[in-house]
Amino acid sequence: MDGALHFPEGFVWGAATAAFQVEGEVAERGECIWDQFCRWPGKVFRGDTGDVADDHYHRYCEDVALMAGLGLKGYRFSISWPRVFPQGAGEVNDKGLDFYDRLVDELLKAGIEPYVTLYHWDLPSALQRLGGWAARESAYRFAEYAEVVASRLGDRVRKWITHNEPWVVAFAGNLNGVHAPGWEDMGLALQVAHHVLLSHGLATDALRGQGDNSTQVGITLNLAPAYPASDSPADAAAAARHDGYLNRWFLDPVFRGQYPEDMWNLYAYMVPRVAPGDMEIIARLVDFLGVNYYSRAVVKHAQGGFLDYATLHPAGEYTAMDWEVYPQGITDLLVRLATDYGSPVMYITENGCAYEDVLAADGQVHDAKRVDYLRAHFSAAHKALEQGVRLRGYFAWSLMDNFEWAYGYSRRFGITYVDYKTQRRILKDSARYYASVIAANAVETWSA
Ligand code: FCB
Repeated sequence: MDGALHFPEGFVWGAATAAFQVEGEVAERGECIWDQFCRWPGKVFRGDTGDVADDHYHRYCEDVALMAGLGLKGYRFSISWPRVFPQGAGEVNDKGLDFYDRLVDELLKAGIEPYVTLYHWDLPSALQRLGGWAARESAYRFAEYAEVVASRLGDRVRKWITHNEPWVVAFAGNLNGVHAPGWEDMGLALQVAHHVLLSHGLATDALRGQGDNSTQVGITLNLAPAYPASDSPADAAAAARHDGYLNRWFLDPVFRGQYPEDMWNLYAYMVPRVAPGDMEIIARLVDFLGVNYYSRAVVKHAQGGFLDYATLHPAGEYTAMDWEVYPQGITDLLVRLATDYGSPVMYITENGCAYEDVLAADGQVHDAKRVDYLRAHFSAAHKALEQGVRLRGYFAWSLMDNFEWAYGYSRRFGITYVDYKTQRRILKDSARYYASVIAANAVETWSA
């Protein structure tokens, strides 16, 4: 392929999903906070639920075959905590573990490596009743859950991700009220963030205790580079605050064992309770950092707003989520992470876009914009590789359309279209495009 950007040998091309968003079959698991949140009037679009979702629980063989057909090297999925522990702790549901056991075997048979996330937002309701992540005890329950899962799958699973996007768990769920459990309290959100981070460290030890030298543990953060809206020092400071709120509040504890001082001072009386020894636990060495990248933030100083800043909506292209398409952000972000945090091994554990995909008269989904989006982001990731960033893989969000949280089924992120009435999976043009990139292990630089 001429004019092509070649990726390193062994680069892991994958796709991602999460349990609540795809599995369905709720009768065989305990209740989680998203089951409850879906039934809170007005919180989730049209009152959609995860009851059936993509029925992945029953259709996983078909889904693995689809992945194999695309040539995927990795599949990132999450384990439903309440499927393993219906009450969050105590009695284990063996049938739940059996499901993940079969899924892992099916993947390995197809030559696809499992990347297993332990927490993608579906906290058992039984634990929420005891305070949820605001309760320190939940961190210890999480470590116990990690240990049980690893003792069952650890002989075959090598790549573990403790948490998906602690920022979303803490702030979307407890400050903005747009995710489960739906509260709006900054102090609470900061305490939740601390316990989630603490649980990451505790689970890291638990996973390593069950595995051997080949066990690799990481954490996935949602990160967005913050660009000042102008050259003014006030806007630069505003961008630094946004960066502190979204990025550094999680990166610094994990990689440096401390909360960023500027933010700690700004949060003042709202800072979390931190017990002696917590920061050492949180800063356990990770084997890799998972980066979820969707867009950037352009930030200006704005007196009186949250942390005295506002994010702008610059002219440009936007997805159906109203997220700006900004591929350059992936390069800037990865290079910055390498520079500031000791050049960790990284995976892009999510990247993708929602568009208003339609099934055309020819029975296909011609999602040209998603193809462009992917091509641009692959190229931007390649630029980071050229600068020496230790990027080892890329996972498209998502393998297939699914339950998009507060947006229900109204946003389609898949490279595969799901007809929810029949559960039929239909490869979109972007899936075929992705398969061609994987086969060549390269991205052509001209645009079609
Ligand atoms: C991320 C989530 C993922 C999906 C994408 C669009 O924040 O991790 O589950 O909803 O956004």
